[in-house]
Amino acid sequence: MSEELLRLEHLSIDYKVKDGYLSAVKDINFTINKGEIFAVVGESGCGKSTVAHSIMNLLPGGNEEITGKIIFKGKDLRTCTKGEMEKIRGKEIGMIFQNPLDSLNPVYTVGSQVSEAILLDKVDKQEAWNRVVKLFQDVKMPDAKERVNSFPHELSGGMRQRVMIAMMLSRNPELLIADEPTTALDVTIEAQILDIIKDLKEKFNTSIMLITHNFGLVAEVADRIGIMYAGEMVETGDVFEIFAHPTHPYTRLLMQALPRKTKHEGRLQTIEGSVPRITEKKPGCRFANRCPYAEEICRTEDPPARVVGENHVCSCHLAGKEEK
Ligand SMILES: Nc1ncnc2c1ncn2[C@@H]1O[C@H](COP(=O)(O)OP(=O)(O)OP(=O)(O)O)[C@@H](O)[C@H]1O
Ligand SMILES: [Mg+2]
Repeated sequence: MSEELLRLEHLSIDYKVKDGYLSAVKDINFTINKGEIFAVVGESGCGKSTVAHSIMNLLPGGNEEITGKIIFKGKDLRTCTKGEMEKIRGKEIGMIFQNPLDSLNPVYTVGSQVSEAILLDKVDKQEAWNRVVKLFQDVKMPDAKERVNSFPHELSGGMRQRVMIAMMLSRNPELLIADEPTTALDVTIEAQILDIIKDLKEKFNTSIMLITHNFGLVAEVADRIGIMYAGEMVETGDVFEIFAHPTHPYTRLLMQALPRKTKHEGRLQTIEGSVPRITEKKPGCRFANRCPYAEEICRTEDPPARVVGENHVCSCHLAGKEEK
């Protein structure tokens, strides 16, 4: 029986903006179990980072309105004090940010920044430094012994991601949120970073929320997938189930847009249109205006979340009704 680590319940997040508000996340529900990789997939702007930052309680503050629950190890993180949250962050929940330069301090060497995290555990300085070098070797940093003395701007994108991962490893959190950890990297480096992430899960039973817009990537590493569209989680399920029976029209289109390995399988398809900014509260499926199957009801009523297979839920009016 899988043991639950994180559960989001009816999480909605609106940002106040000039022209009113923007519904960045709407009524999201999902669970991440211990030792599992849950991938969140969706196009740019669909709310993936907003969800991640809300779990860490790191939304900018001031212009967002949150409702719903973020339950981590049985406790609603939204009821935690600032101090309690600071203790949880890093030690119990770690995050690799979309842009590592934002989270590395430009004036300190990367080695000293990682050792700072280790020194929180009250080990002596030399021991901490030895551990940093070992961690840099674990994340396959080229020339690890020299690189600990580099400043963030002296490193390549892939090296910076490795520093972030080393930092995470030093804290060994129970939940790691990796927000697009490989987007800026070339394919070989991407594969190495994914291997490190998979290793983490296997060695330490770490649970990982892997955020990506790359559907191909999730097939290789994820146990379960959640597909987001315009702030909604439109489909969730085990990776094999989703790949065998993609049910939401958006999921199907995302999959068709995957680059094919052989040239005989036709051209890369892309999805027409773009993710809408939702600034008014009206019912209906947010994908309706891009959906090739949309019917009248799709434009007037919210689609219910239906169970369409084992551990497989899809929010579409037409799901399970007929073969599209
Ligand atoms: N602080 C903010 N204030 C107002 N709007 C915001 C803020 N942060 C994000 N948004 C908006 O919320 C929506 C979701 O943004 P978010 O960064 O969560 O998307 P994403 O799925 O992570 O996209 P990407 O793949 O490009 O990283 C977007 O329309 C974005 O413009
Ligand atoms: Mg993002």
